[in-house]
Amino acid sequence: MKKGIILATVALSTSLLASAAFAAGATGESIFKAKCASCHPDGGNIMNPKETLKGLKDSKKIVSKIRKGGGGMTAFDAKAVSDADAKALADYIIKTFKK
Ligand code: HEC
Repeated sequence: MKKGIILATVALSTSLLASAAFAAGATGESIFKAKCASCHPDGGNIMNPKETLKGLKDSKKIVSKIRKGGGGMTAFDAKAVSDADAKALADYIIKTFKK
């Protein structure tokens, strides 16, 4: 009997973890669409076509660009984009715009 409860608990927490990971991915995408896609549609760059989001690999550099902006890009402080959201955006960009 006890074993059954443990198994049920393990199954439940695994599915909770899986849905949390899914939600994080969806968040990166929805924030991107809300705050970044106006200048970076499909990972491009309408203001400076040489500085696209394609093939970026370093999430720290992406987070730092989000915070500092510059070269025509808006800077987003922690009120506009939280640390967790900045990280989610970086993960989304790296995963989505490979080329
Ligand atoms: C007002 C238009 C605008 C918005 C909004 C904007 N960007 Fe940018 N972004 C730019 C421009 C212009 C550059 C090129 C800046 C430069 O030359 O330094 C750039 C550059 C970048 C880079 C560096 C690209 C590289 O090749 O190194 C990253 C990363 C980036 N943006 C991410 C974002 C994210 C994430 C958001 C949303 C939170 C965002 N941007 C919102 C205009 C924008």
